[in-house]
Order: sequence, then C-alpha cells, then structure tokens
Amino acid sequence: MTTILLTGSTGLVGSRLLPRLVAAGHDCRALVRRDTELPDGVTAVRGDLDEPASLRAAVEGVDAVVHLAALFRTTDEAAIWQANLDGTRHLLEAVSTHAPGARVVMASTGNVYDATAIRPSREDDACSPGAAYPASKVAAETLLRESGLTWSILRLPFVYGEGDGHLASISALAPRFGLHPAHTYSVAHHRDVAGLVHLALSGVTDGRIVNLTDDAPVTVWEMARLGGGDPVDGSAAPLENPWSGRMDGSLARELGFRPEVPTIHAAAAAGIL
Ligand SMILES: NC(=O)c1ccc[n+]([C@@H]2O[C@H](COP(=O)([O-])OP(=O)(O)OC[C@H]3O[C@@H](n4cnc5c(N)ncnc54)[C@H](OP(=O)(O)O)[C@@H]3O)[C@@H](O)[C@H]2O)c1
Repeated sequence: MTTILLTGSTGLVGSRLLPRLVAAGHDCRALVRRDTELPDGVTAVRGDLDEPASLRAAVEGVDAVVHLAALFRTTDEAAIWQANLDGTRHLLEAVSTHAPGARVVMASTGNVYDATAIRPSREDDACSPGAAYPASKVAAETLLRESGLTWSILRLPFVYGEGDGHLASISALAPRFGLHPAHTYSVAHHRDVAGLVHLALSGVTDGRIVNLTDDAPVTVWEMARLGGGDPVDGSAAPLENPWSGRMDGSLARELGFRPEVPTIHAAAAAGIL
C-alpha cells in the first residue's frame, strides 16, 4: 500500500481526487488548515504551507506527495507568490529532509503558456507568463525540477465536473477578463485528473512535465451554456489568437493516458457536469 500526502484536499480538484485515491487503495493523508470532513480512512494532518515546522509530520513516512495546494482566485499577488512559490519551497524542503525517497507529483496550469502561441502549447514550449499566478507556478515548477527529488508536473487545463461550479463561473469570468465567446479552452473532467495522477503515481511521468486535456477543446460560449450560468453574448469580432488557451495532450497519450470523459458533451450526456 502506498502512503500518499495530498495537499489542497479541500479545493475543487483535491476534494474530488481524494476519494479516488482512497478507492484506488492508497493510504491517504490530507494536509488541512481547518476542521473539515474527509473520506473514511483518510488521516488529517494539521498544517500550513506557510508554516514549515507543521510539514514534518505531514511528510514523514510517505511514499508520494500529490501537491495541489495553491492560491489563485484572488488579486493579492503577494499572497499568490507566498502560497505557490514559498509554500512549495517549504513543502519540498520538508520532503527532502524527512521523506527524500518520496515521489512528488505537482499540479501546475496550462496558463503558464504564452498567449502568443501559434499552435496548441506543448510541454517544452517557452513559458514566460506575466501574471502572478502562472509566473509563480513556473517558478514552483523550477524548484521541483531542481530539487533532486523524484518528480512530475501535471499541467492541468480548465477542470470541471461533479457540480464543482467551475463551468458556471465562466459567465462571470468572461466579462471580467474580456474573454471572447469563441475563445477555446482545453478542458478536463475531474475523473481524468485522477486518471493522470494515478499514472503519475505509478512512475510513468517521472521527470516530465505533462499536459492534461480531454479530446475536444470547448468555447467560452459553450462552457457558459453548459455550466448553466448566465449566457455569454456571441460576437462577430475576430479572435485575437485562436491558439491561446489550447494545450497539446499528445504526450500524456503517448505515456498511456486515455480520457475517461472524452468531451464536455459526453460529461453532459452522462450527467456528471
Ligand atoms: N481548477 C482548475 O480548473 C485548475 C486548472 C489548472 C490548474 N489547477 C491547479 O490545480 C490545483 C488545485 O486547484 P483547485 O481549483 O482545486 O484550487 P482551490 O479550489 O482554490 O483549492 C486550493 C487548495 O489549496 C489549499 N491551500 C491554499 N493555500 C494553502 C496553504 N498555505 N497551506 C495549505 N493549503 C493551502 C486550500 O486550502 P484551504 O481550504 O484551507 O483554503 C485548498 O485546499 C492548483 O495547484 C491549481 O493551480 C486547477
């Protein structure tokens, strides 16, 4: 049985990944900052990425760490850097000291790719994002890659499903960020985040950055409609860059990943949006 520490287990992604890790037979620990309900069998370890001393008990004895914890749904840039870069540094230092043989699987984001892409972005494309969230993720990726630990980095697209409210939030995000209704995002269902994490825990993605995508990118207009929020207006204005937001998912497939939910429409038909 593999003992896994999950960070970010109270988040949109982590709360849906944790029961799947348990169901897969892993002995799971969750790093939590507050009292929270966790699936049966999960050990809660109180800790905070901002408090290095709290991380020793969380990592001691683990075989793997799945690091999802991050901050990005805020405009507080200092807090974003603190959570995503300093927090990751503290976690990696704790792993290096107390569980140096552990495999570390870290979630990053497709937002790291430059908006000037000329095709779907690939893992070895240049990444020099200006915004704090993706820039802090690129910096955290570098820390992990240079840590000397066994690592893999999963660049997640827009993740949706299982009533997480993320698709519905597009209706509010689109006007706020000036998203064109035809802007097309790579997406993935929570089930497929779990699928790629399982693959990563088996060691297949060790030493690699791997994009996650389903089989069919989807427009902002469709996301808003499927999410059930207010509709987003159409527009005949030309799209600035049709490739921005698009990730190439070939590497994951070469490594054996197969999306269980191939498209957002398949998710809708299965009632798992
Ligand atoms: N959701 C997506 O579509 C998406 C897309 C691309 C990449 N990702 C990546 O996937 C990961 C999870 O995203 P999410 O949507 O689930 O995020 P989320 O809903 O905002 O959850 C963030 C999680 O991180 C925890 N956290 C934040 N700061 C912490 C700290 N200092 N110490 C310990 N825990 C801390 C939060 O705990 P509290 O509950 O205590 O605040 C929460 O569990 C992130 O790394 C993100 O970059 C997500």
